[in-house]
Amino acid sequence: MEMTFKIFRFDPDVDKEPRYQTYHVQAEPSERILDCLNRIKWEQDGTLAYRMSCGHGVCGSDAMKINGRCGLACQKLVKDYAGSDIVLEPLPSFKVLKDLIVDMDLFLKRVSLIRPYLICSSPPPEKERQQEPGDNKKMNEVIRCILCASCTAACPVTAENENYLGPAAFVWAFKYIFDSRDDQTLERLKQVDTPDGIWGCVNHFECTRVCPKEIPVTKSINAIKREIRNVLKETD
Ligand code: SF4
Ligand code: FES
Repeated sequence: MEMTFKIFRFDPDVDKEPRYQTYHVQAEPSERILDCLNRIKWEQDGTLAYRMSCGHGVCGSDAMKINGRCGLACQKLVKDYAGSDIVLEPLPSFKVLKDLIVDMDLFLKRVSLIRPYLICSSPPPEKERQQEPGDNKKMNEVIRCILCASCTAACPVTAENENYLGPAAFVWAFKYIFDSRDDQTLERLKQVDTPDGIWGCVNHFECTRVCPKEIPVTKSINAIKREIRNVLKETD
């Protein structure tokens, strides 16, 4: 089948304004959008810029806006767009570095702010530190996060509030707040208990809709809100 792609092009070093460039690609219905992008780059236009690495929904690098919805180009099949043009744009609310490549620095900085690693002050045991039974069940969804940024980019609050921590940071906060081995629960809850933190979320659910790893992002955010109400109220 012949597919028509309209792709956002912008090189801030050269262009005054972004533009959309049209490409036509022959593709099998079972091929992915990423396969078509690669064909465009390798056979038609080597100047087209986008990120990709694993090609299989693991690295998170090819997140972009595909016909208006954030997602991974390597997970979207051509057949699901039959009969329409495919419009590819960079993740919204992120600074464009070139074409479909956005600056991820601020996003990653916000995730690292919540200290996405286990903090235990007790001396290490002889063998491994063990979680309490049930911990694993609580977090076996959030540990699937690949930091693709689709959730944060798709969130309407991100578009309105440049200081908003964003759903991906909360997914990582959830992981350590509910891990019984971590002893920073109180500090972690206090850190996100702010208007630009967890209370910036007003349940649009767009993060949950777009997450390529099917993480219940909004549910995780609401679990943190409940924990703040329960734990911080107790310690007031
Ligand atoms: Fe991507 Fe989902 Fe992680 Fe958000 S929660 S960064 S959409 S994998
Ligand atoms: Fe790695 Fe798509 S290329 S997730």
